[in-house]
Amino acid sequence: MGAPAPAPDAIYLDHNATTPVLPEVLEAMLPYLTSQFGNPSSEHALGRSAAQAVHTAREQVAAALSCHPDEVVFTSGGTESNNLAIRGAAAASSRRRVVSSTVEHPATERPLEHLRARGWTVTHVPVTPQGHVTAADVAAALGPDVALVTLMLAQNETGALMPVAQAAEAAHGVGALAHTDAAQAVGKVAITVDGLGVDLLSVAGHKCYAPKGVGALYVRRGTPLHPVLLGAGQEHGRRPGTENVAAVVGLGVALAMAQGRLPEEAVRLAGLRDELWAVLSTMVPGLVRFTPEQALPNTLTVGFPGVSGRDLLAATPEVAASTGSACHSGEETPSAVLLAMGVDPAVARGAVRLSLGHGTTVADVARAGRALVGAYRRAAVGRITA
Ligand SMILES: Cc1ncc(COP(=O)(O)O)c(C=O)c1O
Repeated sequence: MGAPAPAPDAIYLDHNATTPVLPEVLEAMLPYLTSQFGNPSSEHALGRSAAQAVHTAREQVAAALSCHPDEVVFTSGGTESNNLAIRGAAAASSRRRVVSSTVEHPATERPLEHLRARGWTVTHVPVTPQGHVTAADVAAALGPDVALVTLMLAQNETGALMPVAQAAEAAHGVGALAHTDAAQAVGKVAITVDGLGVDLLSVAGHKCYAPKGVGALYVRRGTPLHPVLLGAGQEHGRRPGTENVAAVVGLGVALAMAQGRLPEEAVRLAGLRDELWAVLSTMVPGLVRFTPEQALPNTLTVGFPGVSGRDLLAATPEVAASTGSACHSGEETPSAVLLAMGVDPAVARGAVRLSLGHGTTVADVARAGRALVGAYRRAAVGRITA
């Protein structure tokens, strides 16, 4: 089932998987990988320079989220931020239930399984056929035994935006904390922690033009949270370990740049996304759109009828994109997210996620559309067996 490597000049439409590090971000990081290599905990000049860089990055991240710098905990990425939020909040609570959704990323689902194995009850709120959780369903799932509501802000496969602000308000109504996995939303849509009303919010650097292996967790002042890692006192003991100074600097610059681009970039990407949908839906009869109206501006997940999305992408080396399906021992398993939306497994099999980004141009979208339509037509006449 291995797809051939994409052509060197492939159009990159996989920004929900990861983004390139922007040149300005790399430039800001380089001194901290070379001459300014100090440990921020050291008291000499090199150490102070590194500590100052971490301090500046913390201010930049705080500005992007509209929070206080002391509410930002640097981590190794979205997975660690979610683990710290969920397991850390659970460890600090005497309650024993968590409310979440059926379409969370494994970086949320696995920590929830970990809690369940330790006697917690996990309530999964379903999604609508459009892929949204409803605020009413979250409210109905709540009770005085709930410690935490964890609901992603934007779904990574469909781009669907979730009613996090209403969920957080309802959570607070029963004395629970509210966490959102905002890995896919930060930098793509305007966010303020007070607008969302959450206590905890996860950021993943490599989804917003910073390097892989860095992220942040917003922790509202006064939120009870136990550390998951145990060690020295960095990040006020919430996340011990010598800071990844260069990557943290990159995250700060990347978020400052993203702030500067919003909302114009969101409008531009939504326009390109709509153009791509117009081309594909005109040329491919029966194309299904899985991305709803209320969604990230950069994401378009569609279902090509009668073919495997995986095989279609393998036949389209001009486009680097993803499917939601997994392949185990030669067997294709349709996306669990699409199945949770009630999509027929045969229809889900044709899913392709096209996620646009800062480097995506009008010409890219036109070329990608042509390439996908060409491959689909060849498939439809039997070159790819469904
Ligand atoms: C919604 C969501 N949460 C969490 C993660 C994990 O982030 P990271 O790769 O930084 O650990 C991802 C990455 O795919 C994601 O899409």
